[in-house]
Amino acid sequence: MSGWSLVYDHFDPKAEGLREALCTLGNGYFAVRGAADEAEAGGPHYPGTYLAGGYNRLVSEVGGRPIENEDLVNFPNWLPVSFRHLSQDDGEAGPWFDLHAVEILDYRQELDMAGGLLHRRLRIKDAEGRVSRIESSRFVSMAQPNLAAQAWSLTPENWGGPVELRAMLDGRVINGGVARYRSLRSQHLVTVSAGLEPDGVLHLDVETSQSRLRMVQAARLRLSSDAAPLRVDPEPEQAEGAAGARFRLVAQEGEAIELEKVVAVFTGRDRAVSEPRLAALQTVRGAEDFAKLAQRHALAWSQLWRRFDMRISNRTVEDTEEMNRILRLHVFHLLQVCSPHICDLDVGVPARGLHGEAYRGHIFWDELYIFPLLNQRLPEITRELLLYRYRRLDAARQLARDAGHAGAMYPWQSGSDGREETQQVHLNPKSGRWLPDNSQRQRHVNAAIAYNVWQYVQATDDLEFLSAYGAEMLLEIARFWASISERDGSQDRWVIEGVMGPDEYHDAYPGADEGGLRNNAYTNVMVSWLLRRAREVLDRLPFHHREELCERLRLGDDELARWEEIASGLTLCFHDDEDGRPVISQFEGYGDLLEFDWVGYAAKYGDIQRLDRILEAEGDTPNRYKLSKQADVLMLFYLFSARELRELIEGMGYTWDDRLIERTIAYYSARTSHGSTLSRVVESWVMARVDRRRSWQLFCQALKSDVFDIQGGTTAEGIHLGAMAGTVDLVQRGYTGLELAEDVLWFNPRLPDELSHLEMELRYRGHFLQIEVKRDRLRILASNHAVKPIRIGFDGEIHDITGGQELVFPLSVPNPNSAPNSAPRQATG
Ligand code: BGC
Repeated sequence: MSGWSLVYDHFDPKAEGLREALCTLGNGYFAVRGAADEAEAGGPHYPGTYLAGGYNRLVSEVGGRPIENEDLVNFPNWLPVSFRHLSQDDGEAGPWFDLHAVEILDYRQELDMAGGLLHRRLRIKDAEGRVSRIESSRFVSMAQPNLAAQAWSLTPENWGGPVELRAMLDGRVINGGVARYRSLRSQHLVTVSAGLEPDGVLHLDVETSQSRLRMVQAARLRLSSDAAPLRVDPEPEQAEGAAGARFRLVAQEGEAIELEKVVAVFTGRDRAVSEPRLAALQTVRGAEDFAKLAQRHALAWSQLWRRFDMRISNRTVEDTEEMNRILRLHVFHLLQVCSPHICDLDVGVPARGLHGEAYRGHIFWDELYIFPLLNQRLPEITRELLLYRYRRLDAARQLARDAGHAGAMYPWQSGSDGREETQQVHLNPKSGRWLPDNSQRQRHVNAAIAYNVWQYVQATDDLEFLSAYGAEMLLEIARFWASISERDGSQDRWVIEGVMGPDEYHDAYPGADEGGLRNNAYTNVMVSWLLRRAREVLDRLPFHHREELCERLRLGDDELARWEEIASGLTLCFHDDEDGRPVISQFEGYGDLLEFDWVGYAAKYGDIQRLDRILEAEGDTPNRYKLSKQADVLMLFYLFSARELRELIEGMGYTWDDRLIERTIAYYSARTSHGSTLSRVVESWVMARVDRRRSWQLFCQALKSDVFDIQGGTTAEGIHLGAMAGTVDLVQRGYTGLELAEDVLWFNPRLPDELSHLEMELRYRGHFLQIEVKRDRLRILASNHAVKPIRIGFDGEIHDITGGQELVFPLSVPNPNSAPNSAPRQATG
């Protein structure tokens, strides 16, 4: 197995759902799960085709109440290719090929990440002793976003005789990929037309039932035998909601029959087309053959890899290859969702990719973990994804108004038009109960959006974006936070109530009628950071833009001064750890909660990642305990350096002590169940300079989140994009100590003891930088381009660097046998 492919050498029905998700192919515009060519939904198989931004709403009834959900629609399956034997005498047809009804002699499925191809090769023996070889390859073009192609072949090894081949575009699909949602309505598509054109091109035209989003698929089919074209007239397949063609021919022993299927996908939202059906037919008719299309596709991937590949060297060759392979798998899937083709599509980043139906394709705060990777490599994609938010600024203003606040309040879960898409009730599969869902109280998503705008501007210096879009979002979000903050006269402080932090296990105080918590530390510090940033943001804008924006937003000095007052007066709570030393409280009152019986529950349930479900099924609630689903307070150490955090906390009027970070990390790390895959990424990051061994363990676990489906079944419903990107970013920024601050690109590398070498290329303000970290030195080489010099910071000093120049900094080599380093993340600069 090379460092560039994922290989499965036997069929495993239990793992098929996971493999379908991991072998998904996509190009940012659309994606298809890695289902077998002949598979229909059912048993272990779930073919799924998803369009970026392709949502539809349906109303279902739950407990006698109408509940509306918006889902990322499963669009027609364009994969189906199959065959069956015909009787020699009367041509009577046998059953279609079914993997479950034959003996599998050989099986190999390979995801080639370098070229973006999925290959499958089978040898099967049927009940009559006929041995056949079936091979197929497919790709979803990274070069031409409306195109995909399959090359399928059947080789009779010990038989010859009449067969029938079938290729289809199948619109008889529903959203049935997530068991928990199956009692809800799931039929999103209405067929407009389907058929076989006289020249043998298939087409299927469908529309979503509510959003009226039309998709047309067209397929050009070409038959050949051992590469020589075969002329066989297709018969149309008669099926409601599907377009199909059948070919009858006689297979010769040892001679391959090949079917090439080139598919075009267009929608009513595409640019530069007259009408989707016309576009699909025209495009597929004019398309090149599989091999030529594959070449263009491979070139597009090789260009992406040039920007994104990073190489780490581990102690052993095997570990090195395995780790690089998983890191590439993560980059591969990230780029299949956030590719350059999203430009102009008005889409966000669905937390579970375009790989499955979990979370209904909604967009959460996970981009916080994703953008740093894009910022340093293809920042134009971040810009597009931020524009998705900008276009929903009015919807966010409306949400704020509806909740009685000023400014803009973005929803916790976002879909087509920016309204709140968080489900009102969710099913606990452990108890079978539908429960109210309070998670929309995670207003911290707003802080993340503002933070992301600022980081993007830091990475790119894109002042046009800031002037036209970014500043307005940032300031309107700041205004929302100022309006939700209240003055607590008794404490002479500002408080934020009724919210949830990232830790979803706490959504209310024990026994309270109302949901939400008071003074979530992560939220309050983020808000303080944002409210302080407002003036700096305005100062950065060219004078006229600043004037105009302030006029438009009716933002004056008084309001800015009030924001500064809130920023410095927001409450941060502390309580004592076991040794009586203060740690930051996740929220006000956290210290009064009960300690949780971690050992007892682990012994009783084994896997206790989803303690919310376990406790609810027992008639209890996590709200009573000191436990967290995921990093919450620790997010602060993930997003801010020790220096920044100190400034923030002191700026809020609290005294800083140098061991606070270390104690707080230890405290929450002992009380986190990692029920979200994001959690290990954060904890590994914050531990990197505190407990290096634990940090490495968590990094290794985070790497395995999806490829080994460590949550036991969730990856089959869609990959975890935040954790995928987050692990790569841990290498990119965590191990290099990369930080963007005050227009300087700071480095403070510290490789884990297990790594000897790290190499990658970064983009920063127009420069391409080759970065190499060894145990004893950091080397930065700026490639030879005529762009403005940039500033690199290392060890408190700032160096200018321009195209063609190199900087080399010696690093002190840590002793791998020393006790865990107790210094908090070093402040740079
Ligand atoms: C996590 C959230 C995350 C969401 C989508 C949840 O399990 O708790 O933080 O945004 O998944 O990935």
